[in-house]
Amino acid sequence: MKLAGLKVAIFESRHAHTLSGLVKLQGGIPLAAPSMKEVPLGENKEVFDFAGPFFKNEVQLLLLLTGVGTRALISVLETRFPKEKIIEALKKTPIVPRGPKPIRVLNELGVPFAVAVPEPNTWREVLDTLDKHSGLLPLKDRLVAVQEYGIPNRELLEGLKRRGAEVLRVPVYRWALPDNVEPMKHVIREIAGGRVDVAIFTTAVQIEHLFQVAEKLRLADPFKDGFKKMAVASVGPDTSEALRSRGIAVDIEPESPKMASLVTAAAERAEAVLTQKRGGESCAAEVFRGVLEVTTAREPENSAFLKACRLEKTTFTPVWLMRQAGRYMKDYRLLRDRVSFLELCKNKDLVTEVTVHAQEKINADAAIIFSDILLLVEAFGLGLTFTKGDGPSIQRVVRSEADVGKIPDIDPLESLGYVLEAVSQTRKALKPHIPLIGFAAAPFTLASYMVEGGASKDFSLTKKFMASGPAWPALMKKIVKATARYLNGQIGAGAQAVQIFDSWVGALSPGEYEKYALPYSRELIAEIRAGAPVIHFGTGTGPFLKKFSEAGAGVVSVDSRVRLDEAWEKIGADRAIQGNLDPTVLLKPVSEIKNEVKKILGYAAGRPGHIFNLGHGVLPETPLENVIALVDMVHELSRK
Ligand code: CP3
Repeated sequence: MKLAGLKVAIFESRHAHTLSGLVKLQGGIPLAAPSMKEVPLGENKEVFDFAGPFFKNEVQLLLLLTGVGTRALISVLETRFPKEKIIEALKKTPIVPRGPKPIRVLNELGVPFAVAVPEPNTWREVLDTLDKHSGLLPLKDRLVAVQEYGIPNRELLEGLKRRGAEVLRVPVYRWALPDNVEPMKHVIREIAGGRVDVAIFTTAVQIEHLFQVAEKLRLADPFKDGFKKMAVASVGPDTSEALRSRGIAVDIEPESPKMASLVTAAAERAEAVLTQKRGGESCAAEVFRGVLEVTTAREPENSAFLKACRLEKTTFTPVWLMRQAGRYMKDYRLLRDRVSFLELCKNKDLVTEVTVHAQEKINADAAIIFSDILLLVEAFGLGLTFTKGDGPSIQRVVRSEADVGKIPDIDPLESLGYVLEAVSQTRKALKPHIPLIGFAAAPFTLASYMVEGGASKDFSLTKKFMASGPAWPALMKKIVKATARYLNGQIGAGAQAVQIFDSWVGALSPGEYEKYALPYSRELIAEIRAGAPVIHFGTGTGPFLKKFSEAGAGVVSVDSRVRLDEAWEKIGADRAIQGNLDPTVLLKPVSEIKNEVKKILGYAAGRPGHIFNLGHGVLPETPLENVIALVDMVHELSRK
């Protein structure tokens, strides 16, 4: 009965009754607003008007605006024409898909397309792309068919006409608004007024239809904002994407896209989500509605993560994960099929999307800006590439005093301005109570890349260089200066904490650490603007953890090779600690993950100042469900 007393909005049409029943079984109060009516495929007159020129190969350009619409267009044609004939005609027609969803449909059919439209795939990018390829895809006096779904895109149609195209609109009606929209209007008003707790979406079309009606009521914005304090459950990736494209964060997605799993997942997670989104302590429905006004979106300063950084008490242990945005996420891999890693890092819209998406998907208590420590190497002009399988490679390595001399004095606020812009934009896109973490490499780790030129096992070149005289301090000073300015720039742009990654420092002996790394880390940390906590991360730091903590960060992040209580003892009670689950534990069954989480929480013993994290980044082969389960169990097991 985990939905006990909660008002649950459902938009399902055909299975409204079943879904209501499932919600009631969990103790919820269903608020049903069927949001669509099926239109028989054979009634799509416009599609058949399009079929004439299409099969005669007279359509000189076909713009596919949506994935659902593209699928529907093909289904409608299939009611009268054989599929092979449709595919053959598609192959002969120059096609421009607007975004990843129609591309996916084309790929499934084995149909090539002329050009792709870059993000964020609005009518502007569509027109820009066509202008850029006007040699290949001229518009003047050409017949251009535009597949539409839902509302026509007036700007796009006008832009095409202005360029001399003869536009053939192909609206596809697979679904229409229901005959009676009163229940939809009622639910929209309830959501806009903050009187609903949970929303359950079962198709992407529901979202478009709700917004159509909300726009008519002039309630689109308050309706959208209503979801910020609700638990939003979506049946699967397409529905989730439709929600996100409307600016609605998805809190719950079941493992399998079935109604029963969806309601179970909603019941399981609603309480935790609501507690977090509403910032309250308890989630009994009555308490909620009472405290709603006073506990609306709290500022990040009051977030559990920043409180823990400051050693203040929290009601649960905050958790985020290094590499929480990365290859273990399917959405990320799909994106990476289209753009290279460096392109991704340099596109502020994509950085925002990836950062926010990861935080929301796993319900982490903080977001880390999607970027890389090695961008600074590129800013130094040393050349940087990432190759699949081999990792990073630096073209102009630094191995002598003369090489150090050649490194230019740079201003990272300029050369890495794109990161700062992404930080600022991401800060705005995140929910207000989710802090954003900026980051950079610690001087030793960055220098090791500059000397080795890439990954290394024994760091022999770095060690040789370290001991070779004045070149090492000269290099380290250059790094410290640029990194301090860079991190302060990130704080200025909106990062509320910064993490310094000394990933490979464990290669050093305690003596080497003290002599060749510690002084520069200390100098860097001292330069960081007051007010933003500094998290100092390293792996293999067990043998010199006390010295490591002397670099001066407020939060020390430890890997899994030390026991958390013993590590805390070494770094001292005046520091917060972050860590330290072994990332390989996430490859095990959930029950085993739980045992390990319990152990770590046991070692932390409820002391203020523990931020749960891994000992190192999430491994690419990690199942997403395990990561989501981990975050949930940390919240649940630590709640006081
Ligand atoms: O979610 C996050 O943690 C934010 C993003 C982030 C990345 N790199 C993205 C990334 C962060 C914080 C980093 C820091 C980073 N980069 C470190 C320190 C953290 C650590 O893991 O110790 C280091 C050593 C690097 C250098 C680096 N970048 C390497 C060695 C590699 C290749 C190895 C690998 O994991 O693929 C990268 C690439 C990289 N950085 C990826 C990601 C998501 C994978 C790139 C891809 O998409 O193929």
